[in-house]
Amino acid sequence: MHQSKIAGIGMYVPNHVYTNSDLTRFMETSDEWIRERTGIQERRFADRYGETTTTMAVEAAKAAMERAGTTPQDIDFIVFATLSPDYYFPGCGVLLQREMGMREVGALDVRNQCSGFVYALSVADQFIKTGMYKNILVVGSEKHSFAMDFETRSRNVSVIFGDGAGAVVLQPTEERDSGILSTHLHSDGSDAELLAMYYPGAHANKWLDHPAPFPDQELGGLFLTAEQLESGAALPYMDGPAVFKKAIVKFPEVIKEALATNGLSEKAIDLLVPHQANLRISQYVQKLLGLSDDQVFNNIQKYGNTTAASIPIALCEAWEAGKIEPGDLVCLAAFGSGFTWASALIRW
Ligand code: COA
Repeated sequence: MHQSKIAGIGMYVPNHVYTNSDLTRFMETSDEWIRERTGIQERRFADRYGETTTTMAVEAAKAAMERAGTTPQDIDFIVFATLSPDYYFPGCGVLLQREMGMREVGALDVRNQCSGFVYALSVADQFIKTGMYKNILVVGSEKHSFAMDFETRSRNVSVIFGDGAGAVVLQPTEERDSGILSTHLHSDGSDAELLAMYYPGAHANKWLDHPAPFPDQELGGLFLTAEQLESGAALPYMDGPAVFKKAIVKFPEVIKEALATNGLSEKAIDLLVPHQANLRISQYVQKLLGLSDDQVFNNIQKYGNTTAASIPIALCEAWEAGKIEPGDLVCLAAFGSGFTWASALIRW
């Protein structure tokens, strides 16, 4: 069985920078509140009409493929993680395949929100291990700005999220104790509605306690009345404190699981790249695990929470900044909507 390694990594963030102060033009919030609670100073928002989740992914993928020395023709499988696809269906995987002029390879879409990239990486890792594929493009990309509400009623959500994309090319490696050592995936759906966007969805009326718009109609239901739209029924919902409480338990748990599986301790970690959910969450996890500042990479200050894109963007920036050397032990860890959580331990 082959181990898989990250042969190339790339990222893309849109040009438009929105500082916390910029957001005060749209809603009642303040730079101080956002910094204190989340650590975020600014985020990028995609061009409203010119950029999509797929176009950003294309840019990140080009950089990853160039660094891996591969061309679109070499890619034999795509795994695309996003919660903000260009279309409700089909998923972004096929759009990426089309935009990049790839062969008629398989394209899998992963919907695990903030854990999406680690889930996607784990899926790709299994395909490499079995020898089925040799060049897998794994992408996390999000255009949150299109579905966010910039009014005060949604400020707890909309100050947190940003747009961007990250990608890696995964290849087999012959080296022992190298590449992805293990991945660990978990879920607990009992609190699925605490961080969710209910529409469009088959159960939306049930969860939202909103009467069906046309109660006499036996079929259909993907309709919102003007009143429901106005009331924010189609907007993302987040119980921030509940998410926070669960995250600070599951992040350390899944990191420890990865270390224990490989017979390693926290000291062995050269760099922890956590999903950039909230700087306070990362700092809490760092303290709990007894990690030094040098052992943890955060860039949420610049980009906010980019969900499935946050880990590959952070990993790419850390690598570009020379914080990851060959042989380093890198731990990826994520937690998010579902709830789902996951980790990956990589010998770089
Ligand atoms: N600006 C100013 N005030 C805000 C605000 C904003 N952007 N968002 C919320 N508030 C207000 C609330 O209305 C509330 O006011 P009230 O006390 O008068 O009712 C007050 O701040 C506290 O709200 P609360 O939601 O309890 O704040 P919090 O301290 O829990 O911080 C989060 C909110 C969202 C920053 C925090 O809960 C969090 O980060 N949770 C995790 C979220 C996360 O990681 N999500 C991604 C999952 S991967």
